[in-house]
Amino acid sequence: MKRIAVFTSGGDAPGMNACIRAVVRGGIYYGLEVYGIIRGYKGMIEGDFIKMDSKMVSNIIQRGGTILKSARSEEFRTKVGREKAYQQIKAHHIDGLVCIGGNGSFTGAEIFYQEYGVPTVGVAGTIDNDLYGTDYTLGYDTAVNTALDAIDKIRDTADSHDRVFFIEVMGRDSGYIAIQSGIGGGAEIVMVPENPDTFEGVVETLAQATRSTRRSSSIVIVAEGEELGNAHTIAEHVKSKLPYLDIRVTNLGHIQRGGKPTAIDRLLGSRLGLAAVEGLIEGRACVMAGIVNDKVVYTPFGDAIRKKKPLNTDLIKLVNILSI
Ligand code: F6P
Repeated sequence: MKRIAVFTSGGDAPGMNACIRAVVRGGIYYGLEVYGIIRGYKGMIEGDFIKMDSKMVSNIIQRGGTILKSARSEEFRTKVGREKAYQQIKAHHIDGLVCIGGNGSFTGAEIFYQEYGVPTVGVAGTIDNDLYGTDYTLGYDTAVNTALDAIDKIRDTADSHDRVFFIEVMGRDSGYIAIQSGIGGGAEIVMVPENPDTFEGVVETLAQATRSTRRSSSIVIVAEGEELGNAHTIAEHVKSKLPYLDIRVTNLGHIQRGGKPTAIDRLLGSRLGLAAVEGLIEGRACVMAGIVNDKVVYTPFGDAIRKKKPLNTDLIKLVNILSI
């Protein structure tokens, strides 16, 4: 392994820059040449490679987003696209890849390895925390804290105006952001795809809250993947059953993807970036570097992508008990 390339792919996540820095400096430490690929698989296909040095990753550890930019490439899903990408990898004499991304990015890397034998070590980079093989993914902690900050602010209005707020948070099919920000924000209800919810249950909890505790304001956190529907749909249903409630809906959206990474995400990005380089040097391929119980572990892409990381549903019970 003489020359490696690093790229970020899929949704950006705070901490990606810390990880790029660690890959570049870790690679240089081990005597490798390190290239950056701009815009993930799209840049790989187009030959958008740039030689990285230590100075190029100065002053980025504290920045959100990704200096290498990111994209979701449709072309890489095709055989023709991957062939073009391989020609570029060959032309640039790249021996191994570090892919900082999520599910879709690792699926692409797995196919690419099967077709062309280019070894990739992945770093779990997504705010969704939905990858098996790591306790936390890069960006999750920052996203939760961003959501929490917003929830705290919304609670001021909820309380001042005696309102019920339905707040939708990101997570695609996963309720991790919802559960942690919901508990931290003292939500009365947290709705996640991992736990079956009913309209009747939500209506009853909110009716009960106003009846028995005379609570004048409530916060309901809805994960974007919630099976009953989005925050608007659920809020409309509740309004039709409890018309006396003053209801508002807020979708936190992409605010959760940006901003300065927390200390936890900077540490995670730094550790996983170095682990990815070391993994390539050790001859690993098609694995994702993650941290389990504070130790670096490498999980085959197949497991990271296809095994479901369970959400601890005791946490839902915790929400229910603490909201009485
Ligand atoms: O995977 C990260 C994520 O932010 C999800 O939570 C969300 O479903 C999706 O990406 C949004 O993607 P885009 O920015 O492409 O709309």
